[in-house]
Amino acid sequence: MIHHLALTPEDNAGIGPLLTDLAKEHASIEDPRLIRRAPVLARSLPPRLLEFLEEYRLGEPSALCRVSGLAVDEAALGPTPPHWRDSQHDSPAFHQEIFFLLCASVLGDVFGWATQQDGRLMHDVLPIRGHEHYELGSNSLQHLSWHTEDAFHPCRGDYVALMCLKNPDQVATTVCDAADLDWSVLDVEALFEPVFTQMPDNSHRPENASESTGDPTVDRLRARSFALIQSWNDDPVRRPVLFGDRTSPYLALDPYHMKMDGWPERSLKAFAGLCDQIEAKMKDVSLEPGDCVFIDNFRAVHGRRSFRARYDGSDRWLKRLNVTRNLRGSRAWRPAPDNRIIY
Ligand SMILES: [Fe+2]
Repeated sequence: MIHHLALTPEDNAGIGPLLTDLAKEHASIEDPRLIRRAPVLARSLPPRLLEFLEEYRLGEPSALCRVSGLAVDEAALGPTPPHWRDSQHDSPAFHQEIFFLLCASVLGDVFGWATQQDGRLMHDVLPIRGHEHYELGSNSLQHLSWHTEDAFHPCRGDYVALMCLKNPDQVATTVCDAADLDWSVLDVEALFEPVFTQMPDNSHRPENASESTGDPTVDRLRARSFALIQSWNDDPVRRPVLFGDRTSPYLALDPYHMKMDGWPERSLKAFAGLCDQIEAKMKDVSLEPGDCVFIDNFRAVHGRRSFRARYDGSDRWLKRLNVTRNLRGSRAWRPAPDNRIIY
C-alpha cells in the first residue's frame, strides 16, 4: 500500500509563489546556500504535507511514499537532455527541483557521491544512447535489476527519491516492500550473517564520470574515492543482507553486483529464498509528471522495466536525490561537516 498524498490546485497555488521567490534568489539547485536553508524553508510547505511526510518517516506505514499533482508544464521543460552532463545549467525544472528538495529535506539531509554524476546532489535519470544494454539507470532495452540503492556502501541513503518530469510510455518503476515478504519461511538468521559479498555498482565507475571536474582539489579527493571503489571491486566486502529487527528486518542487497564465490551452502539457500520472494512480490509503479516518490531504501528494493528509448527529446526524464537521516554517520567520508558529498 503506497503512502500517498495528492496536491490540490489550492496547494499548488500556495506553493507556486514560494518556489518562484526561491528560484529568483538562487542560481541553481546545487547552490550550497539553498541546500543549507532547505530544512528551514520546508517549514513553509502546507502543514498537511509536512505531517504526511513525518508520518512516513517515523511510522514506516509503507516502503513507498508518493506526493502527486505538482504542477509541471511539459512544454516549458523543453527536450529531455541526451545526457545528465547536458542538464543542470539554467534548469527548466528549477521550480520543481526546489519543491522536491524541500520535501526531501523533511525526511532527512540530501547528499551525493563524488563518484556519481560528477558529485552533483540532483541527479538526472534519463536514457543515454549507447547504454541500452548496460546495467545502469540510463539503460533502456535491458531492465534495471532490482536493488538497494548503493547497497555496497556503509553510508547508503535512508531514502532514494525520484521526481518525474516526463514518462510518455508509462515505463514502470518496480518496487518490493519488505512488509509483503513472509519472513516466517525465510532463514532470517543466515541472512543476518556478514558473509555476502557486495560489489559497487556501475554508476560509481570512473568511465561513467567526466575526466575532470575542473577543480584540482575535488579531482584529487575523487581519485582517492575511485581507488577505494576499485579496491572494493577487487576485494569485495562481506556484509549481511538483513539488519535491524529480526521480526521485520531492513534490507541491503544488489544481487546483480554480488559475487557468490565462497558463500556457505546455508547462506546460498537463504539468499535464493529471499530473492525468489522478492521477485514474486515485486510491484509496478508508473510515475506520472509531477510525482515525487520517496522509496524507503531500508524497507524496499527497486528497479525499472525495460523500454525502447525515443532519443527525440520526448524521453522519460526523472530527477533523483539521495537522502540520509544520519549525515554525521558519513563524517569520515566528507571533507567538512556541512559538505554533502561522500568521497
Ligand atoms: Fe536505484
